[in-house]
Amino acid sequence: MFSHVLKRSSPFIKRPYAPLKTTTAISRWITYDITSDTATQPTDAMFDSMKTASKADDVFGMDETTNELEQRVAHLLGHEAGLFCASGSMTNQLGLRVSLFQPPHSVLVDVRSHVNLYECGGLAYHSQASMTAVNPVGQHLSVADIEQGAIQDDLCGALTRVVSVENTLNGTIMPLTQLEAVREHSLVQGYKLHMDGARIWEASAATGVPLAAYGGLCDTVSVCLSKGLGAPIGSMLVSDKATIRRARHLRKLMGGGWRQSGGLAAAGLYCLDHVLPTMRDTQLRTLRLWQGLQRLGMDAVLPVETNMIFIDTRGIISLRAWAQHLLDHANVRIDSSDDRVARLVMHYQVPENVVDRILDLTQEFVKLHGKSPVKQASDSLPADNQGVKLAYPSNNNNST
Ligand SMILES: Cc1ncc(COP(=O)(O)O)c(C=O)c1O
Repeated sequence: MFSHVLKRSSPFIKRPYAPLKTTTAISRWITYDITSDTATQPTDAMFDSMKTASKADDVFGMDETTNELEQRVAHLLGHEAGLFCASGSMTNQLGLRVSLFQPPHSVLVDVRSHVNLYECGGLAYHSQASMTAVNPVGQHLSVADIEQGAIQDDLCGALTRVVSVENTLNGTIMPLTQLEAVREHSLVQGYKLHMDGARIWEASAATGVPLAAYGGLCDTVSVCLSKGLGAPIGSMLVSDKATIRRARHLRKLMGGGWRQSGGLAAAGLYCLDHVLPTMRDTQLRTLRLWQGLQRLGMDAVLPVETNMIFIDTRGIISLRAWAQHLLDHANVRIDSSDDRVARLVMHYQVPENVVDRILDLTQEFVKLHGKSPVKQASDSLPADNQGVKLAYPSNNNNST
């Protein structure tokens, strides 16, 4: 039990952030935010590494540290070149834009994908493309799903030009064999293959499959440094040299050309060296948290394969009351904007003892405030993955 370690504190008092602690004591000054892995906080060590960066102009490709990061990430993902950008939305939009030349045209995506749901309809705006949003039969897009959804009517349709996959998607991993089959099919059909690999690091850490094995199967890959990797900002688009040159031009068009980006790139390099190697441990902690919650009667809406748990508390406890309890007693923040399903996202700044603390507190809470384990009709979730969508903080204007 860790309850004595923490002092009760109001969520409304703004607390200063202390440096990351991974020792056994839980600091009452730190808020452990598991609403998203975008909540990771830059550390002093990251800022120290930023001081050592080069300071030249990246619009002209002259900044050494930025070039080093671009080369390194491209190489890791099995590609020739990379383009460092401000956000994953930008690298997704650029990654799709570079493969779309002449409307009418369309992109086939998973209905649950970030590109479909959370990029402000950018595909229509930036690429004049329509989107075919497919609800896959299994966990990820398969060749059969693509065959079913692709537009091949060259009289009345906007032909499918690009297939976009997301890996991981809601924390679940698209198996390499399935990606290989989609690649094969795309080559035969003449589709370009884009991967939103914002969290491809997680897939590789969980399966042991090298990043290049996933990345090398796609024409363009977008990866984020600012999620589980912990960097304060930044994403990378990787592809061949000619495509990245085109993306660089389009980035400038979007107003995304940046000047002395070296400091930000240095933080990214720091995270590759220091945070990426810890990712598997974070996943094991996620699993331990999930197993503990499961023992208390909770279900998961999706398989727990990496750092995300979509937890279903219906018939067990009130999610909102539980979230408030965790915030009050452990400074742990979870999203409870829907009272049925929450997305818990683990990252390296949530140490082992905080997992213990969450489980202890939850056990007590279930004992004191648990409902009879019968789901009420009024608790039921909408069909078609809506349970997942409800748990997505963006629906309530929080982080993604
Ligand atoms: C799967 C996925 N792709 C892309 C993005 C976009 O990243 P950004 O918030 O940097 O635009 C996110 C953001 O959470 C994401 O979860």
